[in-house]
Amino acid sequence: MTGQFITFEGGEGAGKSTQIARLKAHLEKLRIPVFVTREPGGSPGAEVVRSVLLSGKARALGPDTEAMLFAAARADHMDSIILPALERDEWVLCDRFTDSTRVYQGEAGVDPAFIRELENLAVAGKKPDLTVLIDVPPNIGLARVSTRSATESASGAPDRFEKDDLEVQVRRQAMFLDLAKAEPDRIAVVDGSKSADTVEEAIWALVRERLGHRLEDATRVVPLIVPGTRDG
Ligand code: TYD
Repeated sequence: MTGQFITFEGGEGAGKSTQIARLKAHLEKLRIPVFVTREPGGSPGAEVVRSVLLSGKARALGPDTEAMLFAAARADHMDSIILPALERDEWVLCDRFTDSTRVYQGEAGVDPAFIRELENLAVAGKKPDLTVLIDVPPNIGLARVSTRSATESASGAPDRFEKDDLEVQVRRQAMFLDLAKAEPDRIAVVDGSKSADTVEEAIWALVRERLGHRLEDATRVVPLIVPGTRDG
């Protein structure tokens, strides 16, 4: 199997979707098949759960139940979308995954042991090959989110979790960084306060450094450093 599973994590307004699109373009230049997906959601069943969670309708059930719903959505997404894509040798780029549950639901008071149990049920031992943590000071992230909301239609209104205040976002940022310290081989931190081009270059360098041998496997005849790929 040459497919790789890369997840993107970070607080609100970290710029994950922009960077996922840019990494996809780099990989596709090397003719690597890429599958982009997101959580919560990513499969028809999980998208239903997503709308319940992000509308805030499940909030009254409490953070433990929200954590279970995230895990239920993840289990379906994993089985019906992520694992089959990896088996087809695609590179899966996923916007948020288990680390978001550890941080968001952990910060909301859910017992970390319970979160790990749910995680095991949902992913059955499959971990991301690489997790890119785009670290952005929460005040910058929140400012980006509010600009986005102001310039988008009604669907761009802040969701259940984006509405949380700066203090909450600061605690989440610290928790994400703690996860990266605890699992440095899987989670790499990228400074997301820089320009989109600089962040893109940092992520592409990281992927070549951490998964270079996998890029070679996936491309076989294409050399790892192709002239022009660094700038394009
Ligand atoms: P989304 O619109 O995808 O936002 P973002 O661009 O920030 O990724 O909304 C996902 C929201 O759900 C986000 O605020 C984080 C939250 N979330 C959790 O609380 N737990 C989870 O396990 C996941 C995957 C997301």
